[in-house]
Formats: sequence, C-alpha cells, structure tokens
Amino acid sequence: MCGIVGYIGHREAFPIIIKGLQRLEYRGYDSAGIALYDGSQINLSKTKGKVEDLQNKAKEISQAGKIGIGHTRWATHGVPNDVNSHPHYSNSGDLVIIHNGIIENYEAIKQELTKRGYTFQSDTDTEVLVNLIEEVKKTEDVKLGKAVQIALNQVVGAYAIAVFDKRKPDEIVVAKLGSPLAIGIGEDEFFIASDASPFIEFTNNAVYLEDEEMAIIRLGKEIKLRKIKDDAVAYPRILELQMNLEEIEKGGYDHFMLKEIYEQPRAIKDTYRGRLLADQGLIRMAGIDLNMEKFLNANRIIIVACGTSWHAGLVAEYIFEDLARIPVEVEYASEFRYRNPVITDKDVLIAISQSGETADTLAAIKLAKDRGAFVFGVCNVVGSSIARETDAGAYTHAGPEIGVASTKAFTTQITVLTLMALKLAKAKGVFSETKYREYLTELENIPSKVEKSLESNTLIEIIADVYKDSTNCLYLGRGYNFPVALEGALKLKEISYIHAEGYPAAEMKHGPIALIDEHMPVFVIATKKGHYEKVVSNIQEIKSRKGKIIAIVTEGDEQVKELADHVIEVPETLESLTPLLTTIPLQLLSYHIAVMRGCNVDQPRNLAKSVTVE
Ligand code: F6R
Repeated sequence: MCGIVGYIGHREAFPIIIKGLQRLEYRGYDSAGIALYDGSQINLSKTKGKVEDLQNKAKEISQAGKIGIGHTRWATHGVPNDVNSHPHYSNSGDLVIIHNGIIENYEAIKQELTKRGYTFQSDTDTEVLVNLIEEVKKTEDVKLGKAVQIALNQVVGAYAIAVFDKRKPDEIVVAKLGSPLAIGIGEDEFFIASDASPFIEFTNNAVYLEDEEMAIIRLGKEIKLRKIKDDAVAYPRILELQMNLEEIEKGGYDHFMLKEIYEQPRAIKDTYRGRLLADQGLIRMAGIDLNMEKFLNANRIIIVACGTSWHAGLVAEYIFEDLARIPVEVEYASEFRYRNPVITDKDVLIAISQSGETADTLAAIKLAKDRGAFVFGVCNVVGSSIARETDAGAYTHAGPEIGVASTKAFTTQITVLTLMALKLAKAKGVFSETKYREYLTELENIPSKVEKSLESNTLIEIIADVYKDSTNCLYLGRGYNFPVALEGALKLKEISYIHAEGYPAAEMKHGPIALIDEHMPVFVIATKKGHYEKVVSNIQEIKSRKGKIIAIVTEGDEQVKELADHVIEVPETLESLTPLLTTIPLQLLSYHIAVMRGCNVDQPRNLAKSVTVE
C-alpha cells in the first residue's frame, strides 16, 4: 500500500510525479505529497485527500525542479491528515523521504532519537526513519547511501523508500524490503516508482529491486546496487517492459472498473493465448510441464490467497477435484501463515494473487517453502514479489488492473487454474480424449460468451436502480457458483458499502433465511447445469417469505423466470466454466449500484489495491 514516485533528470519533475501518483493512486489515496528541489531549496507540499487535492495545494509552492519525490498514502501509522502525509523532512530540513511500508520498531527508535534532542511533527514511523538516517549520517560522518544502509540495518519492518539530501541534489537513494520498487532507466534520467506505470511513456527499461537491496541513483552515473545487510554489490538486472500506455488509461470508460469488466473477453483470450491449442488437443504451460511430477505425486494441493483471489481459489478447488481428482484445500493466507499447518514435501501450494505483493500470501509462501512444499504462483503482475518467490508459476496476462475492486483478475485466475486442472487431468488419464477436447473447445468459446453476458448491461442498470437503496443483500449459489456468490457479495459491499453476504444456497435454511422479508434482495445463481432443481427449491423458499429474487439463469430458462422478480441470462456452457459467465452480471450490478449511490467506484474508501501490510 502507498505509492511512491521519484524523478531525477533533465525534465521538470512536478508533472511527471503528479501523473505518476495518479497512476499509483490505486495503492492508497487518503493523502498525497510532493517534494521538489528547485536548485536552492526543497519545496514541499502535502495534504490529506487525493492527488487532485495535492495538485491544488501545490499551487502554493514553486513547482520548479528536476529532482523530486512524491507519495500517495494508505495510512498505517497516524490518521490521514496533512502532517502525517509524506514526504517527511529530517529535523535539519536537509533530508526528505517517502516510504511505503511499516517500521515496526519505530517507537523504540523514536525514544532513542528523542533523548538525543530530535523532535517529531507527525505520528508516523517514516519521520522516525528519516531522522534515524540523519543521525547516522551525522554521527558516523558517512555519505547518504551508507547512512541509509546503516539505518535500515537497525529497523524491523517493511519498506520501499526514496530519500534525497538537498546538499547533494544529484542523487536519490532507494531501498526495498517487502514493498515493491522499480527504477526506470532513461537517457540521463531515472524514474522511481512502486510499479512501472508512472514511467512507461518515458522508458521500457526497468530494474526491480529485490528485497534487502538498495540503489544509489546518481545523475550521469550507472545506478549502484548493493545488499543492505552485507554491503555486497549487486548487478542491475535491466528488464524490458511489455506494458503500454493505453493499458493504464481509461480509454473512454467512466471508470477503470467498467473498462476492466469490459476487457474480460480480451483478457481471458490473452490468458490462454499460446497455451491452449484446441485444434491440436494441447495445453502448453511450461511451469506445469517442467514440474509435472510434483503435481502428479502430490498428496494434495493447498491454495492460499486473500479476497477475490481466495474466491478464485475456491472455484479452483471444485475444478481440481472434479476434473483432475486431486484433493484440494483452500486457505486464507492470513490464517494459514499463523496456524502451524501440517505441510510436507508431498504438498503443492498454489498461491493466487493479482498484485503479487499481498503480504499474507507472501508469508504463506515462505512458510510452505521452508517446510518443503513445492510452491506455484498464479499472479498477474509480472516480476512481482510472489512471482519471484515461487518455485514456478503461470501469469494470468490480464493486463494492469487499476480499479481497486478485482474483476478481470478473477476471471483470468479461473482461466489459468482451469487450464492447469485440465492439463493435470489429461496427464493423470482421468479424462477421456473426447471430454478433454470438449473442454478445450468450450474454453475457446468463453470470450464470446462473456461478450454476450455483457450485453445485459442495460437491463442490469435498470435492476440496479431498483435495488440501489437496499441496506442488505444476500447472494446464493451452489457448487461452482457458490464462490461466485461470495465474490458477488464482496464486490457489492466493497464499492457500494451495502452490507452483503454470500452463502451456499442450501445453507440459507440454517440461519440467513431468518433475514428474508419483502425488503431483502436475494441474488441467486441458478444456471441450468449444477444442482438446478435444488436451487429452484431454494428460490421457492425465498419467494414464500416475500424476498426479492434476482436470478442469474441460463439463456432460455422459463422455470426461474416464473418465480423471480428479475432474471439476467448468461449463455449455456460446461458446468465448471459457468463462474466465468455468472460473475459478469454480478460485477456490472455492483458497478451500477455503486455509481448510482455516488460512490467512488475505482477507489472505495479504506481500501488499497495491493495489501502489502498484514
Ligand atoms: C477485492 C479485492 C481484494 C483482493 C485481495 C487480494 O475486489 O481486490 O479482495 O483480491 O486484496 O489481492 P491480490 O490478488 O493482489 O493478492
């Protein structure tokens, strides 16, 4: 959480940093700030609120300068207010810092620094860190890079930092542990950011720092990388980026979320492109091919993830067990990491994460690896921490997901996991060739069926208008569509702030049915394949208690139409592929309800796109 941006070079830094912060706002948006060196002094402006508020506030300062740093914040220490916003000065005013992460032992360091006469304006751990660097620099009489290194060896926690000294304004020092940090390398200029989106129009060359690495970025010089712990020199690994500008802009849509919902046919295609060769009856996935024995000999697969990715994991549990006949357990990464789980070298752990930076998922991976499991990652962000930490993996290739609420990440995760399950089913010989080929062909049909599902948008807007003022909603589904019900409820609550719960439809009788009256909208997934008759019975139970029924049904369904207040049709497909279609109308419903309620769809309150703190 939090986004950091920095620039040093021949251009004016202000517009680059502001634009970069806007692109990183998905990482946190409760306050923002910028510091620029104009050739004689540092001009700093920061404020509670969004980058837009910062742009206004920054009119009060000089915006000149070819070196600068900026920050968009998701508060951890100290409430979001102007003072707690970053950047933070050291006491002398010489050093200025931005930080993404948490310094866990900041209280002890603060006490020590206070004894030495330091004072603090804010409640943040970051202000403590910059003063620790200042103190080290002074007492040890070392250069900034060395002072940063010594200071970081005294802190416990996670960080991506950028710091500069106004007395040496041709240099920025950056360091990383647990939070992402990329350096864009241009001609006589460098960019610093939490991901590559702030500098993609300037350069395709980037270095991603590894954990416990720092870099000294000096104008006119090559960047110097070194290990924070032992001073060893590391060599910059320059990657060529694939991202393009169009992918990170709204492209005519009102919100990123809507754009990303509509991108799903393309995103799913990109996910299986080059992997799914339906005409040859082949699935190519190097990460599985090279490790086939691990999967085939596994006692079980453990899936760890958080939030929407956890829901994709639940769908995968059904897919892997149903198609590949491999036992699966799905765990919240945050619980798994702390509950001393029994793991052996016969286990395969699959970690699912859009951002590839989720702290709990990362910790679960480390735990499983330490205990001998083979760890496979399903990530969207290329080069992310989880992608690097896992033994092997498969990218989802969804393209950047900027709306905080996950949409295309979910469907592309399910696509990758389905490809994996099919491949394993084939290798295990549990599938007939005919059935296997039927799946491959149908998977290729999914993008056009998603497109068809998107055609219900106008009807969904009308339904959204009916239910936009609800205070509670229930989501029900069975089998493959139970996780879709959970995901539908999560989408609604996170962007519209309406309380919503997802349940397996049959569980309704064991409690939630008590909530049903004429004011309760119940969204039921009632597609033809998969316990249809049983779901119809559940619908009847809701109807007899006067609940409002909004059903997602298979095209041409007549039975549910008779019972429900509203039906939204999706095309027919194989049962295990239905989540890829049924989730679409639920995403659109949440989107429209949130827009009608005047909510900030792309940046819902209190949330951040990548949760790099536990
Ligand atoms: C919900 C949402 C979150 C994320 C969760 C995990 O729309 O976006 O629940 O799914 O924070 O994030 P990743 O997938 O990046 O590990």
